[in-house]
Amino acid sequence: MNKKKEFKIAIAGYGHVGKDTVKTIIENNEIIEKRTGIKLKIKTVFSRNIDKVKNDKYLDLIEIKTKDLNDILNDKEIDIIIEVLGGMDTAKTLIMEAKKCIVTANKALLANSFAEIVENRKTDIVFEASVAGAVPIIKALKESLVSDKIESVYGILNGTCNFILTNMTKNNLDFGVVLKDAQDKGYAEADPTFDIDGIDTAHKLCILSSIAFSNIMDMNKIFIRGIRNIELSDIIFATEAGYTIKLIAEASIDKNNNVFIFVIPTMLKEDNMLSKVDYAFNAITVVGDRSGENVFYGAGAGGRPTSSAIVSDAITLARNNLITDNLRIPILGFAQKNNDIKIKDFKEKNETFYIRFSSSNNNFETFNKSFLENKIIVEESEEKNNNFMFILKETNINKIIEIIEKTEKIENIFIARIKS
Ligand SMILES: NC(=O)c1ccc[n+]([C@@H]2O[C@H](COP(=O)([O-])OP(=O)(O)OC[C@H]3O[C@@H](n4cnc5c(N)ncnc54)[C@H](OP(=O)(O)O)[C@@H]3O)[C@@H](O)[C@H]2O)c1
Repeated sequence: MNKKKEFKIAIAGYGHVGKDTVKTIIENNEIIEKRTGIKLKIKTVFSRNIDKVKNDKYLDLIEIKTKDLNDILNDKEIDIIIEVLGGMDTAKTLIMEAKKCIVTANKALLANSFAEIVENRKTDIVFEASVAGAVPIIKALKESLVSDKIESVYGILNGTCNFILTNMTKNNLDFGVVLKDAQDKGYAEADPTFDIDGIDTAHKLCILSSIAFSNIMDMNKIFIRGIRNIELSDIIFATEAGYTIKLIAEASIDKNNNVFIFVIPTMLKEDNMLSKVDYAFNAITVVGDRSGENVFYGAGAGGRPTSSAIVSDAITLARNNLITDNLRIPILGFAQKNNDIKIKDFKEKNETFYIRFSSSNNNFETFNKSFLENKIIVEESEEKNNNFMFILKETNINKIIEIIEKTEKIENIFIARIKS
């Protein structure tokens, strides 16, 4: 059989990731070809800003530079489209309409339209770069750990939040000061809502848990609490108690197929490897019934690391093109859905929680009493500078919120789970 060796690529989006993807394909072309026997050739770059890009020696090497999406959609020569536009509209049109294989890094689009995309696409779509940048977690779940029953996946999936939490912890700084610094350095967006409210983290968790538990998870069923209300006093309390606070995304399944899936600030013991993951780095722990605990760590964002995952995905598609349909790895890593799973509400999950708030109308003892009356075990409590802090055992967020919301004038509530 005469096997195809050269694959023509179109890149949609010439921003941070698009530019680095072009560079990686051009600069590492030879090493890729030597390793894989496959030659990647960029034929077209589509992006609305293409006219504004000046003095770009990489772009000069590309045959077609266009602002017209049809130049990609209608070009029969193109084998693979790399979608790095971001956003929901044009990216979705491209993914749904293109009759080509797709690489995408668009976690927001995937998490919100997963079922539609997976069920309607006739050609392959791969998305390693959509979670944790360069860290090969999706391939690990789909391929390396395919013989394991995955029990849980949890990790730090948002570099901006981790940068903020690390800086607060290491430099004793307030949330607002660190957020501003992160924005100045380009780690945080001007509107940081998606990051600090945990939404970006939930998008990535939706993708990982769908693969881990062999069914498409509903983004709307993920419990999400971000770090917006964290104060330096929370960090100090945690550090003194021997914990580090991280924004953790977690999905776990029990023997009865009950799945809990949530994003919440979490206090990790110092011996948990994720407590050592600092600044913009990402890390994910996967617990498999055979392999046990596996920790994946690396650069979670940035054009250059993300381009590594994207180009690797393009190679996967090229290789797929060379093998028969039934040998291909399914989009989400499973050929048959696990229809037995039941998604449970995290609000009902009993855990140990840390809570901090201030109250101008009530004294510390009122809350101590209310928790005890509701059979919540208060493991530790402290009053400092008009802040009330409690560690509450074997309870759930619903119960805690109910109690404190009954009381007047509660402000700045911050809740973190304590991971056992
Ligand atoms: N940056 C990272 O570290 C990272 C990491 C992992 C995944 N991702 C994902 O990768 C994707 C791209 O991120 P990025 O950081 O490279 O974004 P970016 O810097 O904003 O680049 C996007 C590029 O696409 C263009 N574009 C956007 N919408 C378009 C449209 N409708 N039609 C034509 N051109 C359009 C933009 O033009 P304008 O400049 O005119 O807006 C820009 O050139 C996103 O889905 C993101 O979530 C990013």
